[in-house]
Parts: sequence; structure tokens; C-alpha cells
Amino acid sequence: MSSPFEVLGVEPDADEATIVRAYRRRVKETHPDQGGSAREFQAVKEAYERIRAGDVDSEPAADDDKPAARRAESAGGGSRDSTSGGAQDSTENRENADRSDTPASGPDADRDAATTSRVEFVNHAVLDDHGWALDDEDLFEKAADADLAPEDHGAFEVEPGESLLEAAERHGFAWPFSCRGGACANCAVLLREGELSQPADHILPEELIEENIRLSCNGEPLTDELQVVYNVKHLPRLESLRLPPGPFEFSRTD
Ligand code: FES
Repeated sequence: MSSPFEVLGVEPDADEATIVRAYRRRVKETHPDQGGSAREFQAVKEAYERIRAGDVDSEPAADDDKPAARRAESAGGGSRDSTSGGAQDSTENRENADRSDTPASGPDADRDAATTSRVEFVNHAVLDDHGWALDDEDLFEKAADADLAPEDHGAFEVEPGESLLEAAERHGFAWPFSCRGGACANCAVLLREGELSQPADHILPEELIEENIRLSCNGEPLTDELQVVYNVKHLPRLESLRLPPGPFEFSRTD
């Protein structure tokens, strides 16, 4: 049976950055939507979770047993895998470049990229408690009148070059995430108004893009004003695209 390190294709003494890179690559390789299988995908998720939890057998496999691509990943330091994953990544990058900056609706065409944007947010977790629905036209008005906790409704500024998730964290909010690399749905938000770029999206199918689901970890505002419902990862259609939470997902930074 393969060790978690073998599943990810890294050495047992790999540093965190190498493990995260390998994890993102393996998630993409094994995701059912990318030609992989649910069993492989689950094995990668479990391997990553075990390494994160320290629940691992650190016995290294003999070098001769390792595919060349795995050795390259282990030795590659900060570079992307250029053997097994290179061609796939190139294809994905082209696809994602097509998606990037081609928003589904209404970016400010003349917007100065150096200006800040204002993002108003609502936490999806409070909708049920109040009997609200995601498509309520007056959702944000109702949230503003409901005296919600600061983490459940509010607004903040996003600086140029900052992702939505980074801005939320800078303002002290612990929004969900896992990979921070476009390979899961943990950081997903629903756009109610405005537009986010999507420079790295390896996971969302077209129908979810069309429904204004975006990834907050790498999406940067393309409009001056946005309204988003964050923490939508529990929506049924996103459930299967989620990964184990990131190490800081449940910590609050305020
Ligand atoms: S895509 Fe995984 S955290 Fe954003």
C-alpha cells in the first residue's frame, strides 16, 4: 500500500511548500472532471490530510521504485513538475488564461486597475437561520437590517493586486480555503454584483461559472463594487469539489 508521500509523489522529508505544490498537481491529475477517478482523487485528499495531521508512515520507498516524475517533483524545489504534469499544466494554463479576465457579466471596462474596490459580503451560514435564499433580490438589504455579527455581514476594501481572500484576511476575517491554488471549491463565493478575475481555476465546471460561482483565493476585483456571498462551499454542487481545509482555515486573525 502506498504511503501518503508516495501518493503525492514527494519525499517523506519534503518541506511544506513542496507538499502543497505536489498536492495541487495530484489533485488536478486525479480529479474526476480532469480524467481521473473518484478513488484516486479521494486517495490524494486522504494522503494530504494525513500528512497535515502528522498521521504518516515516514518509511521512504526505494528510489528505484519511484517514477521519474516523482523524483523530479521531490528535487524540483520551487519549480512546477515539467515531466508528467508539464503538458497538462500548459493546457490548463491556456484554458485558464482564456477564462481569466473574461468575466461573465459587466466588468467596468474603463476601470483603473490601480484603484481599490469595495466588497460587501454576507456569510452563507446565516441564510438558513433567517429564512433567506441565495437568490433573494433584497438579500443584502435584509442582511444590513439584521444586526449580524461583523464576520457575517459587512464590507471591506480590496487593494490592487490583492485577491478577495487575501483582503478578507487582511481585514481580520477567516474565510474558508484549502489549496489556495484554484484546485478546490473551499474558497468559493457567489457573486451577486460585480466581477472577479479567475486567473487560476482548475476545478469549477462551466455551469458553476455561469451561475456566478468564483474562487476567492486568486480572484481579484474587476469592478469597483462587488457583493458576494462567501462560505458557499457547502452548496450541494460544490460538495464533491472540496478538499481538506487549509491549516489556518478555522483560525480567526482578529
Ligand atoms: S481554489 Fe482551493 S482555496 Fe481557492
